[in-house]
Amino acid sequence: MKKLLLFVSLAILMAACNKQTTPPQERLTLHDAEINTIIAGMSLEEKVEMLHSKTNMSSEGVPRLGIQDIKYCDGPFGIREEGVPNGFASAGWTTDSATYFPTGSALAATWSEDLAYKYGVGMGTEARRRGKDIILGPAVNIQRLPVGGRTYEYLSEDPVLAALLGTSYVKGVQDAGTAACIKHFALNNQEMNRGSVNVVVDERTMREIYLKPFELMVKEGGAMAVMPAYNKVNGDYCSENEHLLNEILRGEWGFKGMTVSDWGGTHSTMGAALHGLDVQMTGDSYLGPALIDSVKAGKVPESVVDDKVREILRVRYTVEAIPEDKCNLETASTPESRATAYEVARRSVVLLKNEGGILPIRKDVKKIAVIGRNAVALTQSGGMGAGVKAPYEVTPLQGLVNRAPEGVEINYAPAYKDYMGMFAFWRGAEFLSDHPEIAAAIDEPADPEMLAEAIALAADADMVIYFFGTNKFIETEGSDRTDIDLPLDQNAIAEALVAANPNTVGVMISGGPCDLSSIEPILPALVQGWWNGLEGGNALADILYGNIAPSGKLPFTFPVKLADSPAYALDNYPQKAEIEGDLFGNMYRQDVKGQRRAPMGPRRYASTAYYSEGPLVGYRWFDTKSVPVMYAFGHGLSYVDFSYGAMKANKAEYGENDVIKVKFKLGNTGSMPAEEVAQLYVRRVDGKVSWPVKELKAFRRVVLAAGETKTVTLEIPVSELRYWNEAAGDWALEHGSIELLLGSASDDIRQTLTVKI
Ligand code: BGC
Repeated sequence: MKKLLLFVSLAILMAACNKQTTPPQERLTLHDAEINTIIAGMSLEEKVEMLHSKTNMSSEGVPRLGIQDIKYCDGPFGIREEGVPNGFASAGWTTDSATYFPTGSALAATWSEDLAYKYGVGMGTEARRRGKDIILGPAVNIQRLPVGGRTYEYLSEDPVLAALLGTSYVKGVQDAGTAACIKHFALNNQEMNRGSVNVVVDERTMREIYLKPFELMVKEGGAMAVMPAYNKVNGDYCSENEHLLNEILRGEWGFKGMTVSDWGGTHSTMGAALHGLDVQMTGDSYLGPALIDSVKAGKVPESVVDDKVREILRVRYTVEAIPEDKCNLETASTPESRATAYEVARRSVVLLKNEGGILPIRKDVKKIAVIGRNAVALTQSGGMGAGVKAPYEVTPLQGLVNRAPEGVEINYAPAYKDYMGMFAFWRGAEFLSDHPEIAAAIDEPADPEMLAEAIALAADADMVIYFFGTNKFIETEGSDRTDIDLPLDQNAIAEALVAANPNTVGVMISGGPCDLSSIEPILPALVQGWWNGLEGGNALADILYGNIAPSGKLPFTFPVKLADSPAYALDNYPQKAEIEGDLFGNMYRQDVKGQRRAPMGPRRYASTAYYSEGPLVGYRWFDTKSVPVMYAFGHGLSYVDFSYGAMKANKAEYGENDVIKVKFKLGNTGSMPAEEVAQLYVRRVDGKVSWPVKELKAFRRVVLAAGETKTVTLEIPVSELRYWNEAAGDWALEHGSIELLLGSASDDIRQTLTVKI
């Protein structure tokens, strides 16, 4: 018996060690022998049945062998409510609520890999409770355009921040037993014409900026699934892009999992079959009967189908199927996930400006006027795909009430109408006439009565907290904003409020940046509050009342004006239409037995997006071109000051396999606990290759008690300083001097140190 126990413990230990030593992607291949035997016994029809959707959110297993279907769910900031089998309409369940986590840009504003990991664990755990195998997330495309409709889902304009947080998120999801389907691979940086736009980008920019997060999530995170994006890259749709899917993803990065097209993003049988797509979502128009015909006609080798089935089965073998009677028994939301959502939200709020230390709210403030509809707007859904049915959502107003100190009175006025854009019209004329609070147009002037009500409250209060910004109908999947102006006359409302009460601070509730050039000069304090999950209101109130110090840092730049940002400055966006008509419908390839799809919906336009700014995205552009910004990448104030002691490097000169390690003392000189995100950038001295003026390479969130000082180490592997050498088609290191720039933001560098490589 003792021997048996010893044997079992040894086996468990070896399995655990194996798991740790086997490279992440190789773990997927552990059952290949068994899988190959299964494939050998399957008919062509049975195999092809696995390569397209079964329902809107599932694809088939092997029923004959009891191998379960694969169940997908959105992602990325909460497990989406259950839809009907053939579409996105609600299934009307009562057990499908889940934790609404802070959205992507809010998570990224924490600059915390630990929190991203916990967030992933929360998502993965709740997916299991819902019986789901694959989460369609995280979404990590680079925020190239301030107007981008999915900025709030995506993480950052910087590849290193997106890569590190995305990888931790993936690890968390997968450690909880669910597969992560990282999306959208690749270069889905605009929603306008997303189904047809052809991104023209040079290889170096693509590798260093846009593919970087995906590379790390695959190689280090072990992501089990990848979703090719809707758009084309350098001429080919992502769902049939040989270079992206077969050469880079599988060939160079060693990806062993499955690829799943974005919904409606498959475009041909031969293209998809031969160039790297495993599962068509949704429908079977390409990877269904047409594929069977193509194989029978000898145009597609059956081994290609086998490869796809193998990749799907690897995921199926790694992710345990949950029996129907073991899931969806109650809400998926767990107390642990809600605690994580709260923790993330508390660290994501960014204090942009705090003139005269007007925040935190002083103890003698007894009457607060909360102005602006964004203080009560729910943000868990809207924005199309990514949305959650949360068990509850604490709005900013509710949070301020929940956390109000004894004796503080809070009054609220909406000041501006709601805006639902086209969604209001979808709801019909009757809905609109029943809801006069919904504005007819985004630029409608302030309603005089609503404004008067807000001004009266402001004038009568000790302090005004003005909530402005966008909503999830303005920033949404499927379209980009046409500008970043504050909607609904919010600038004029701010002026009126400040005139009524100079003690007015502003909180912006949005996923992406807005033009603050009117509001910034008149408001003494500004806070970026994000769409911050079901505990967002409580977290924000903690910061406004000073229960904790703010510690979020911007994951993207706020330009002074939209025209300053690179794609606009170079006239690369918005693009002019080149072909009229719906490319989804008209794009037809002569397959062995192709199927023409009926043109769908409104007309779309094909266009070409030239990324001629190259790697100069976000702060890389503003810094290199010396264009002033409103708020810089990495910016975020605290209620305390931090001291940065002298930075020391472990060596003066490094070889290509070395790791640069810098040490410094970081002190909290204030009288309350606080957290600081120390950021390490690099600048090339006399580089021959062209480089942005500075690039983020490492960062760390540090927790400090009042008055405490800690020694902090930051590391940069020299391999991370390589560039993509187009001529050699490989990564290369440029030797020479590198300046290390240590600071509290990209525009607040406290120290520099030059080393050689
Ligand atoms: C989105 C994806 C999403 C999918 C399924 C698509 O429209 O681009 O991000 O996962 O729908 O909802």
